[in-house]
Amino acid sequence: MSKFITFEGVDGAGKSTHLAWFADALRQRGPDVVVTREPGGTPLGEQLREILLNQTMSIGTEALLMFAARLEHIEQVIKPALRAGKWVISDRFSDASFAYQGGGRGLDWDKLSQLEQWVHPDLQPDLTLFFDVPVEVARQRLRSPDNNRQSNVTLDRFEQEQAGFFERVRAGYHQRIRQNPQRYAVIDGAQPLEKVKQQLEGIIATL
Ligand code: TYD
Repeated sequence: MSKFITFEGVDGAGKSTHLAWFADALRQRGPDVVVTREPGGTPLGEQLREILLNQTMSIGTEALLMFAARLEHIEQVIKPALRAGKWVISDRFSDASFAYQGGGRGLDWDKLSQLEQWVHPDLQPDLTLFFDVPVEVARQRLRSPDNNRQSNVTLDRFEQEQAGFFERVRAGYHQRIRQNPQRYAVIDGAQPLEKVKQQLEGIIATL
């Protein structure tokens, strides 16, 4: 049976590295796995990502564009893949809107719930892996010259935010987890890579 799995965490939590490893490990067990990301995942979504990550805009606009990209992503990519029996792994989904636009930027939680209800009333991830790290650790990783992804590129609009923003983002994720704990696996992202992999293997064994 196909499954929809999402990866979440503050910037620098390591989720993208773990996602690549997790997807490979899952494929070795047989399922046809589609890896995608938000904002993005479709040609229009990727154009919106470019705008969202680089242009200043009002908080409401930011939330609406995130959900606009998401609607396209759900209709064009996620639902068709699930219907075809494939597994879908998305690097971020609606939890990120609650954490970043709700927690980080202070947008009313109810407005986000309304958008979620409108855009995907009948779809939620089967499982969300939340990589939790103290904000100082995440920030240090983000700025480290050893971080391949960031070594040659500048930090985007979200990554440039101050520590207080990421504390609120992290608190936003925790609030979301408290509302629906059974959907999440919370992983200590500050552990050595090998330990995280062991934990991911354990999760795969239960799927
Ligand atoms: P991220 O997933 O961290 O990609 P990369 O690893 O390539 O930097 O970048 C996406 C950014 O978008 C991240 O800072 C969080 C932000 N974001 C939101 O603010 N709201 C959302 O709903 C989503 C999906 C992402």
